[in-house]
Amino acid sequence: MADNHIASLLEQMTLNEKIGQLVQLATPFLKGASDGGQITGPMKNMGIDEESIKDTGSVLGASGAEEIMNIQNTHLAENRLGIPLLFMSDIIHGYKTIFPVPLAIGCSWDMELAEKSAEIAANEAAVSGVHVTFSPMVDLSRDPRWGRVMESTGEDPYLNSEIARAYVRGFQGEDVTRDLGRLAACVKHFAAYGAPEGGRDYNTVDMSERQLREMYLPAYKAALDEGCEMVMTSFNILNGVPATGNKPLMRDLLRDEWGFDGVLISDWGAVKELIPHGVAEDEKEAAQKAITAGVDIEMMTGCYTSHLQGLIEEGAIDEETVDEAVLRILQLKQKLGLFDNPHRGADPALEEQVVLCAEHRSAARELAAKSSVLLKNDRVLPLNPNQKVSLIGPFARDADILGPWSWLGAEEDTVTLEDGLRQYVNPDRLTIAPGCSVESGTEEDMQAAVHAAEEADVIILGLGERSYMSGEAGCRADIRLPDAQLKLIERVKSLGKSVVAVLFNGRPLDLHGVLDEADAVLEAWYPGTEGGSAVADLLFGAVNPSGRLAMSFPYTVGQVPVYYNHFNTGRPKDAPDAQERFVSQYLDIPNEPMLPFGFGLSYTTYEYSNLTLSSDTMTAWDSLHVSVNVTNTGEAAGEEVVQLYIRDVAGEIVRPVNELKDFQKIVLEPGETKTIAFTITEDQLRYHHANLDYTSDPGRFQVSIGPNSQNITTRTFTLTD
Ligand code: NOJ
Repeated sequence: MADNHIASLLEQMTLNEKIGQLVQLATPFLKGASDGGQITGPMKNMGIDEESIKDTGSVLGASGAEEIMNIQNTHLAENRLGIPLLFMSDIIHGYKTIFPVPLAIGCSWDMELAEKSAEIAANEAAVSGVHVTFSPMVDLSRDPRWGRVMESTGEDPYLNSEIARAYVRGFQGEDVTRDLGRLAACVKHFAAYGAPEGGRDYNTVDMSERQLREMYLPAYKAALDEGCEMVMTSFNILNGVPATGNKPLMRDLLRDEWGFDGVLISDWGAVKELIPHGVAEDEKEAAQKAITAGVDIEMMTGCYTSHLQGLIEEGAIDEETVDEAVLRILQLKQKLGLFDNPHRGADPALEEQVVLCAEHRSAARELAAKSSVLLKNDRVLPLNPNQKVSLIGPFARDADILGPWSWLGAEEDTVTLEDGLRQYVNPDRLTIAPGCSVESGTEEDMQAAVHAAEEADVIILGLGERSYMSGEAGCRADIRLPDAQLKLIERVKSLGKSVVAVLFNGRPLDLHGVLDEADAVLEAWYPGTEGGSAVADLLFGAVNPSGRLAMSFPYTVGQVPVYYNHFNTGRPKDAPDAQERFVSQYLDIPNEPMLPFGFGLSYTTYEYSNLTLSSDTMTAWDSLHVSVNVTNTGEAAGEEVVQLYIRDVAGEIVRPVNELKDFQKIVLEPGETKTIAFTITEDQLRYHHANLDYTSDPGRFQVSIGPNSQNITTRTFTLTD
């Protein structure tokens, strides 16, 4: 269908039909869904009746080719102009083949694999009838109390942006119109949802525009530069105005400054939430504010359905504002080919073959291994399969390792830690006893675990958080492991055997009681469907750990927010002339996090040498070449993430002590040395000045390279006019 067909469609639409396009309902509301289509209390409250449901524009959370085709067929038979529905779902880190949570994928620093995971998720969802995924979530976060850090890719704007791009490429492919195996992506949550005060979900966000542009906006922009089709608003207020009713954010910045002309959807219920936020007296005002701010689709509340018509009749909004929104939605439907092929990629036969196929499982296994981070290893790992192993801890057998955003992932399809270990260890060399549950334990269970471990050479502890302990509304003020698990570690440690802790969780934890007690610690995050296999591959050395932290692990929660790209202060603790007391420090804990951004161990060692700059000056017209030799000084082949940081020593605005500007993930055989080259250009030295101009300052810069944000070697150069 050409554009003029869309325009003529718009002309034929009644106002009610137009408003219907701006409404998104969950599957049970729709006819043709199993158990769907009955007019229930919540639907009446939303102003939805038999008639208006026929005009609905899009559906949330449907899955399965047959069901989606049914809903679409029923809808097309009843919709006067035959406008197909758009099916949108949260395909966050996999459809049925579940990949590690995004924070873990961030730790892989592997853009090809991140892209591949999104491609596979898209393929599975597309044959199952889905058109749009509410992903990527690119909210930068510095606060591990916030449950949704597991959905983010961490604390760094550059790494977040690179992954945002990889996800969009993976979901949408090169041409989402032609490639029926892909989905339209929706970047979220716009904006700065990852900075709630106190790490409490939905809470206040307040920050300077400079900070917003510097740290929080780049990843959304990167996703849009990569062609992301949609944007979702965030629940939070930003500097006093809820994002969902925030005109400067949506119209001025997103649409006018960035030129985004795709569909903007509210988050679930966020339009109506303008009332409790305190910027709208009632639903009518909420509808007015949201549509004026530029929100095209209202998700799951009925402010638009009930009030847009009245607002137009009163002249409070123009019908053109509604038309514009409708047009964008129709254009997306057209782009996805739905007018010609309303079922798009949905194919029940193909669905059977593609979803959870062996190839997808094997990609999930590879990515889960590459996303895990080895945090400590006192010569215990890798294990020898001839050792007697005792598997203890609440995650020994538990399949709750998919993460909170895996609504279609099934525990029965999941490889647990026990399943994984059985691939390497003979049954007569393996004893298993959980010892406690995730949040509580009894003396009896503890003794059973101690007894099971008595004969073992090595104890593997499967520890962590239940998936409901992170994710949306999954915030915690105490980010240690629950007491029952800390006690369990102490008890098994007293047996005097080697103890390996494997962590399944969704946030950087306070690891007191784990790092100090265990001989080795592997952060597996929520590793997904193939989690147990991937962890076993790492523990037995079939895969050499290569994950690096995308978010700092705090020393204790009292230090939060703690992040590597902080400012220096006027009284830095480590200055050569620092006084003993009057410096920026805590009296009781170090300033540094327990584990810094970029950190991760391997079964081999790497040595960095010969950091060389092509010149000690550069200008805006030429670039600087930086090289470093990296040698694998151990006995195993491995992958290293070579990280390049820059510091602007003196700017008009204070600059962070370091900023990640580039990285390379390289493979090194034992004894091998590679010379790794980077190019620094002037645009990497720019930042937002006091007047928000994005420029660089001539003067001195430091460039540092190393295996993590703390262990770096530094050289200096000067940017001249
Ligand atoms: C609320 C969440 O904040 C958002 O991320 C998600 O996409 C929507 N619900 C739809 O499920």
